[in-house]
Amino acid sequence: MKILLTGTNGQVGYELARSLQGLGQVVAPQRAECDLSQPDQLRSLIRMLEPDLIINPAAYTAVDKAESEPELAMLVNAEAPAVMAEEAARLGSGLIHFSTDYVFDGSAQRPYDENDPTNPVSVYGKTKLAGEQAILASDCAHLILRTSWVYGMRGKNFLLTMLRLAGERDQLRVVADQIGAPTWSRTLAEVTAHVVAQLVAVDQADTAAKGRGWQEWWHKHSGIYHCTAQGSTSWHGFTEAIIRQALPEKAVTVTPIATHDYPTPARRPANSQLSCAKFMDHFCDLPDWQQALQLCLQA
Ligand SMILES: NC(=O)c1ccc[n+]([C@@H]2O[C@H](COP(=O)([O-])OP(=O)(O)OC[C@H]3O[C@@H](n4cnc5c(N)ncnc54)[C@H](OP(=O)(O)O)[C@@H]3O)[C@@H](O)[C@H]2O)c1
Repeated sequence: MKILLTGTNGQVGYELARSLQGLGQVVAPQRAECDLSQPDQLRSLIRMLEPDLIINPAAYTAVDKAESEPELAMLVNAEAPAVMAEEAARLGSGLIHFSTDYVFDGSAQRPYDENDPTNPVSVYGKTKLAGEQAILASDCAHLILRTSWVYGMRGKNFLLTMLRLAGERDQLRVVADQIGAPTWSRTLAEVTAHVVAQLVAVDQADTAAKGRGWQEWWHKHSGIYHCTAQGSTSWHGFTEAIIRQALPEKAVTVTPIATHDYPTPARRPANSQLSCAKFMDHFCDLPDWQQALQLCLQA
């Protein structure tokens, strides 16, 4: 199976490049050869490579900056997935795309499920939702994995920021009224690889590539899935867990503050919790966020 992987230097893309090893021929171009803000270049690349599967963790992820760069965010987060979906449909290939909790406004009093109405409150959220809608409209074989609060040991993320700040300061003020599930990039990569392994097995059992088993698998599984670590906390709770586990000797006071005490250009949902029952029912279990954090820090 030939797999086109985007965003290979990002948090999730980097881990995917590792986790997908042995599952197929992974082609992971750098941004210069696969610039998602250039739809024609992307289309030509897909036509040249003819991948069986496109995995797209690349995105315009600068949530605050997107407020002042809506056109670029829309190109990368909506136009590019639209091109991937059109080309996947044309080739009979599959598309695994990553999306976000920020498609919701966060006003629900319980975890969101896949059928809940969306209502993004930021440019980033709107562009990611437009990407989802383009994929759904294309009728290609697809999995859309909505995740939340991604962290890991590379790139820009909350874990690395808090480790740095906790090393420098004795006191931190952190937002306590946004609730979600911190999700390790490696968890996402590993569960995605688990899904791809199922698909590879199905494909290998067919007499022809992308035969009947392939079609049936996608028919059964195509759709949107919520995919995060299990359990939830606030950014404040996440910070306390990070310091407790990574810097147990360091005395840092973490003061809870409200969202309005930490103004940002983009609004964020108060409730980012996503119910992952559908993903676990179709594919595999997801780890508790605290266990995953411990494994990440050990790694
Ligand atoms: N981070 C989160 O907290 C979070 C939460 C919910 C959902 N998600 C979603 O999860 C997925 C993975 O996120 P992540 O945290 O791994 O993102 P990330 O670390 O910010 O990585 C994004 C990747 O996209 C690439 N990219 C950006 N603009 C591009 C362009 N014009 N052309 C080609 N590549 C481009 C970047 O390339 P360069 O390396 O060249 O910059 C980078 O490799 C995304 O779909 C994101 O929307 C993330």
